[in-house]
Amino acid sequence: MTISSPTLADQTRVDFPMFSNHSLENQKLIYLDHAATSQKPYKVIEALKHYYSNDNANVHRGAHQLSARATDGFEQARQITAEFINAETPREIVFTRNATEAINLVARSWGEAELKEKDEILITLMEHHSNFVPWQLLAQRTGCIIRHISITSSGELDLEDLREKLNSRTRLLSLVHISNTLGCCNDIAEITQLAHNVGSLVLVDACQSLAHQPIDVKKLKIDFLAGSSHKLCGPTGIGFLWAREKLLEEMPPFLCGGEMIQDVFLDHSTWAELPHKFEAGTPAIGEAIAMGTALNYLKSIGLKNIQSWEKTLTKHLFEKLESIDGLQILGPNPEQQPSRGALATFTVQGIHADDIAALLDTNGICIRSGHHCCQPLHRHLGLNSTARASLSFTSTIDEIDQFSEELVSTISFLKKHI
Ligand SMILES: Cc1ncc(COP(=O)(O)O)c(C=O)c1O
Repeated sequence: MTISSPTLADQTRVDFPMFSNHSLENQKLIYLDHAATSQKPYKVIEALKHYYSNDNANVHRGAHQLSARATDGFEQARQITAEFINAETPREIVFTRNATEAINLVARSWGEAELKEKDEILITLMEHHSNFVPWQLLAQRTGCIIRHISITSSGELDLEDLREKLNSRTRLLSLVHISNTLGCCNDIAEITQLAHNVGSLVLVDACQSLAHQPIDVKKLKIDFLAGSSHKLCGPTGIGFLWAREKLLEEMPPFLCGGEMIQDVFLDHSTWAELPHKFEAGTPAIGEAIAMGTALNYLKSIGLKNIQSWEKTLTKHLFEKLESIDGLQILGPNPEQQPSRGALATFTVQGIHADDIAALLDTNGICIRSGHHCCQPLHRHLGLNSTARASLSFTSTIDEIDQFSEELVSTISFLKKHI
């Protein structure tokens, strides 16, 4: 494959300490597990260090300068997050620990207040457990019904099934943008239109898309969006829920205690303004600030540039994997679905995915094996475990070539020894 250089990976790998000082002894690191968590650039690590070294104080409380600086940094991160997804106002950004907590917030707050027996929630078979379990527990508490949209034989969302299952009882459609296992990219704008036509709200799990393509919540016309910083070159322990302001205004608090109140009396309390009503207790301040740095970093590279380079990489990854005997890839290939995500999940006939991942690891190649928190999807496909290689804008053609070469040797070794 001929690629004009320098590539986006050439330009950005130098920003990441992990790609020069990684901890694998005497081995080149080939990190192909970006979908599980992204690596962090110097800038983000520095932002965390700077905060704890210079500005560490609690937010929204102190009259002193340090607290004012911490609060400014924290609220600036909210502004950056709002701009990153083109939210109407930073009041629509609620900081959470991660995307899982963001979805739980909607289930607990909106779900318990709004849903009653026989109301329906639609999710898809390809959801991560974080978009299954909160609704299952909500159904136990409210008597609402969860319905599941199936997938097609090529591993894409079955739009016919979606159309059939959407009805006047559907109150929420909660679905993933890019599947972390199938890699397919759901057409959120079109799907949202269908859901809104029957009066249903739409929640988008954008964990696997936010770092890979521009996302504009206004254009998509969705109602809720969940994101995790650690998938966006930011730290762990911070994520966010975006929701339309009107919805957040109407929703009751989720967690409660300090920070989220306006007044506390002996027998009742009143709530702080948005978004603080949903942010109980001391938040992850430095982490939020560093997430802002990460989002600015991604913006400076350009989400369109990232998307374009990752398309090239994904095409190459598929070409390499498709040429391996006995290997089967889940989900649509880049020709069937050019918008698909930059990952490939696969099985190899007669070989356990864990063995492949463990052997590749002995050569410094990190891929993921298991159910990827998608057990219902794996059950539907009759699989226990799959292997997944996932890319980022820092990935190179050379890494994919080395991975596929090692994979061929690994398969041949395992075939001889099992
Ligand atoms: C599609 C998808 N949704 C949700 C999550 C959950 O993210 P977190 O664990 O950061 O809450 C993940 C993480 O792997 C994911 O890939």
